Amino acid sequence: MEEWERWERRVQTAAHPVAYRLMRAVAARGPVVRVPRVGVVVSDARVAREVLLDTGAYTKTGPGAAAGLWTPVLGPRTLITLEGAEHAELRRRLGGLFTPGYVATVCERVLRAPLADLERRLAAGAEVDLVRVVRDGAAGVIRELVGMPPGGAGFAEASAAVSAVRLWRTTLTGRQTERARAALARLTEAAVAAYRAGDESTAAGRLRALGLDEAEARGAVGLFLLTGTETLVSFVPRLVALAHDTGRGPDGITDALVEEALRVTSPTPVMLRSAARAGRIGGVRVAAGERVVIATLLCARAYGPFAPDRDAAETAGLRRLWFGAGPHFCLGMPLAMAEVRAVVGALRGFPELSIAGRRPARGVLVPSYARLPVRARAGGVPGDGERARKPDRRRR
Ligand code: HEM
Repeated sequence: MEEWERWERRVQTAAHPVAYRLMRAVAARGPVVRVPRVGVVVSDARVAREVLLDTGAYTKTGPGAAAGLWTPVLGPRTLITLEGAEHAELRRRLGGLFTPGYVATVCERVLRAPLADLERRLAAGAEVDLVRVVRDGAAGVIRELVGMPPGGAGFAEASAAVSAVRLWRTTLTGRQTERARAALARLTEAAVAAYRAGDESTAAGRLRALGLDEAEARGAVGLFLLTGTETLVSFVPRLVALAHDTGRGPDGITDALVEEALRVTSPTPVMLRSAARAGRIGGVRVAAGERVVIATLLCARAYGPFAPDRDAAETAGLRRLWFGAGPHFCLGMPLAMAEVRAVVGALRGFPELSIAGRRPARGVLVPSYARLPVRARAGGVPGDGERARKPDRRRR
């Protein structure tokens, strides 16, 4: 097994030891397989897209889908707990917060100082935990976007509450719901105050100007916090590790490599839907109310192993399935890409980046590293099964 694959497998199994192995076994049985107590698992990209685009037949709001998990925490009126015209209308109003121009401005304003600090520390030969840098940066960007004051306490609490969710659950436990709701309520307090004051200099105030009622604004702020941090904490360190493990420094991370890394990591490994009526998916009969699990990671991995020099045309058929498809396609994609580019840009000046003592995160919802310490000099100190950089690393 190659170095990148060994580490990626460790990241996946640390997060979901049972589910990851089960999913791989299921995919080996066919593109659409019914798994008792789990649902109908889809691991073929074409079929997955058909399901995601057919929102009349497969919804996020029925039994076993996202709404059951998140409505008790975020309220009933959020993008991930609505379908149809109501969803489209809310999404239209929120769209203005995520235009490429606006997110680029927010990223530049929030990330300039922390990334300059990262560069300074690396240049001084210090070891820097990339997971921490990305978590703090992504949290700062979301705070700015939704108009929350700086400070971190409640943030870790809220993300811990989210991480407690297991991949196969259809509802949160009472305790998980209470914890997540309380943590998010504390976090969103300032944003809600901005909403009430109608302060348009903050996003929360802008949400009011965009015509959202208070419950919708609170739900939007909570959702952005949930979706906008852990995904990047998952992806960016894994991107840098993938480049490293295939003999590249950050200077070798091209746009094409980022796409290929998104494909093999697929940070949100599954998407959940519920069958609104009886039907068939790829020849498999589906009952009304049954859960459909789109195994995004397996759909994407079916296109082969990580190949940094792969021609993007080979995987064009996936059409960025890792960001979803159809009306729920990731709203935050421009923000995610801007943040990825910003961090990679800061690291690019350090082609001899080494990784020492990385650690996959255990028992988390979104597979990620818990720590990814990097240094600017070649030949990091091996630890936790880490190997020193290969001597034959490539240059581009
Ligand atoms: C690499 C990073 C990211 C990945 C891989 C990712 C992936 C996804 C996927 C797969 C979905 C669709 C889920 C489904 O249909 O069930 C989604 C939806 C969403 N994402 Fe992202 N995401 C990322 C970053 C972000 C960021 C930074 C934000 C910022 C707030 C964000 C906000 C959202 C929102 C609001 C939705 C719901 C859209 C809707 O239901 O209409 N995402 N994301």
